Amino acid sequence: MKSEGQTGAATSTHSPETSPIRTAVAPPAGTRAERLLTRVDHAFAWGDGLIARWLPPEANPLAQSGAATNAALAVAIVSGIALLIWYSPSLQFAYSSLAAIEGRTLGGWVRAIHRYSSDLAMLFVLVHAGRMFFARKFSGSRWLPWVSGVALIGLIWFIGWTGYWLVWDQPAQQVAVTSMRLLDGLPIFGKPLGRLYITDRLVPSLLFFVVFFLHMLLPLAIAVGLAFHLLRVSRVKLFPSWKMTTAIALGVATTAWLIPAPLDAPAEMAVKAGAFTVDAWYLTPLALALRFKHVGLWVALFGTMALAAAIPWLLGRRRAPMAYQAVVEQSRCHACTQCQQDCPFDAITMVARTDGKRFPSLAFVDVSKCVGCGVCAGSCDSEGIVLPWFDTRREENRIENEIAAAVAAGGSSWVALIAGDIDNGLALFAAELWRERLPDYHVHFVPTASWVRPMFVEHLLKHGARGVLIVRDARTEAAARDGNRWVSARLAGTRTPVYRPDRAGGSTAWQVVDYDPARTADLTRQANAFRTEGVKSTLLPARRHPVTMVIAGVLLALVIAVAAVGPSHFRVTNPEPANPEFVFSFKAFGDHVTENTVDATEDATKPIHMRGRSMSKPQRAPVVVRLTIDGVTEERSYRAMGISKDGPALNEWRHPLSVGERAIRIELITGPESPPLRWESTIQAQPRRLHVITFEPDARFRVE
Ligand code: HEM
Ligand code: SF4
Ligand code: SF4
Repeated sequence: MKSEGQTGAATSTHSPETSPIRTAVAPPAGTRAERLLTRVDHAFAWGDGLIARWLPPEANPLAQSGAATNAALAVAIVSGIALLIWYSPSLQFAYSSLAAIEGRTLGGWVRAIHRYSSDLAMLFVLVHAGRMFFARKFSGSRWLPWVSGVALIGLIWFIGWTGYWLVWDQPAQQVAVTSMRLLDGLPIFGKPLGRLYITDRLVPSLLFFVVFFLHMLLPLAIAVGLAFHLLRVSRVKLFPSWKMTTAIALGVATTAWLIPAPLDAPAEMAVKAGAFTVDAWYLTPLALALRFKHVGLWVALFGTMALAAAIPWLLGRRRAPMAYQAVVEQSRCHACTQCQQDCPFDAITMVARTDGKRFPSLAFVDVSKCVGCGVCAGSCDSEGIVLPWFDTRREENRIENEIAAAVAAGGSSWVALIAGDIDNGLALFAAELWRERLPDYHVHFVPTASWVRPMFVEHLLKHGARGVLIVRDARTEAAARDGNRWVSARLAGTRTPVYRPDRAGGSTAWQVVDYDPARTADLTRQANAFRTEGVKSTLLPARRHPVTMVIAGVLLALVIAVAAVGPSHFRVTNPEPANPEFVFSFKAFGDHVTENTVDATEDATKPIHMRGRSMSKPQRAPVVVRLTIDGVTEERSYRAMGISKDGPALNEWRHPLSVGERAIRIELITGPESPPLRWESTIQAQPRRLHVITFEPDARFRVE
């Protein structure tokens, strides 16, 4: 279908000081796969509309998912602080302190609130990210909220991951072991950390405290992330209305009372749990890591995050600023600052003038922030700020002329101005479809509802139009954000520039209608009522019955609760084989094989401050381990650690066992000259157990 705006000549470049006269050409798509993304976005809008049938948009958290995420995070933070009343942040007492509040106790309730609000935050943030993606709000200047948003998801996930570590139950054990495995796979730590997580005695309590510390501190980083995230939007709605925020808190509290948070068996390093409960919102990587024990899994997971962060460049298209952004015509700007106040993206600043005019300042559009929504064009009575591709004067004249011609020819004198962002992109503007919906109107599209200047409506009414219907995108997270509200405020006379009936021949025949994609027939009905029953220049608030609102509210809360809490109770079977395992973990120094010798003749040739130092680096022999189980012997050699091979050999040897009595002998050989160090005994191998022997230079062999 050809877009109404697709007629006309190509654009040309011009400086903001010259008059941008051109024909309307829809700006090039800002993203690739525009059509596909738009369709899904439309489905979201349709869902919002459906819910809006029974609930006002401000009562639908899914329609304000960014703000709703903050509300859920706030509940998580408050309940987390409260949980410290019961929780002991130490390896020894963490589990027992939580076991003491298990079930329907006050502490258990707070714990469940903390847990479910974190789940809800993840649900909301993913909905938010999905909606932003399909609304194509990642290209151009929106790269910053997008990239910081991806970082925020990563941060929230990591906070959750550390949170599950702190429970010190069996899933926590897996989280810790998996994290150590990951760290060991990275070339960061010289000594493998995983070998500390084979027996309770060795698990470092300091690391547990570091994890606790991170869990407490990282929420502060969310605030820093949000500061970047919201740097380019003005009048941010950080939280939903207080009613909605309270409803979210109450919903979580009720769910937490009804479904206490699960607590698995305590962590025990020697036990390989058969199954445990996993919160899929945060521990899906764990469930995957248990199956695919390869560092490649993490590379894939973090790679996916990096790919998500790169979306603005992968799917976004570069567009010349002039092709879609606003420009200021210096000579027409009289420094009223209205456009600066109205811009939803903080893209306009008032700067010093250089043209010698008597006005103190001049509007200036920051191209790194402007998304080209067109709201500012409606702020300016003197046409000082315009969208070059939809030039105010030219487009207003064109529409006025068309209406005048139609009226002269005896046609309809009712005008409908449709916000192009409703149908998610002007390129897809379906003029015929809108003509079908509004058969008795002259249908024209405008970039966004607030592009319409009150003066334009005055002109239309003065020059023969009987009424002007403005159809706007009413979504809470609409492309033009809160800028959508200005058109009705301006026409109602509560925001500058105000509508002046005296300039419209005394007429107030305008109406702003919120578009609901789920009820297009309503639009036709409202438009007909506007035309036939007389003029109503105020918005018609949708009437909803209080009982239906309560029922719909409860149902929506139920759906969200199930979606948030359901995945947090996944029972995962441990894919590790159930047979017992023998583990020999050791730290042993091999014998020195290269002596620290000083050659006297060579030494004399060196500068005086370097004398007495050995040129040959001391190296250690590999440590050989000979393991005999039920008479079958295997041997392995472990090289000394360190770049110069002068450190200890540090490793573990895992060997599957069959259940029952097993005769084990370990021989540890530190060098060709040294006698083997021996340990020998029988063990009673039990299913799902690790049988661990450690060796340390001081403590020698030890049965754990
Ligand atoms: C802690 C997590 C997050 C919170 C609390 C949050 C919150 C918000 C809020 C309050 C807004 C402003 C909404 C408005 O007033 O119109 C916003 C905007 C935005 N968010 Fe998020 N967000 C989060 C994560 C994300 C993620 C993960 C993405 C995508 C990857 C994302 C993408 C965006 C974008 C692109 C905008 C700008 C919308 C526009 O230009 O109209 N956010 N966010
Ligand atoms: S609204 Fe117009 S006159 Fe006022 S500051 Fe903006 S460009 Fe200048
Ligand atoms: S087009 Fe939109 S984002 Fe750009 S300056 Fe105007 S109001 Fe701000």
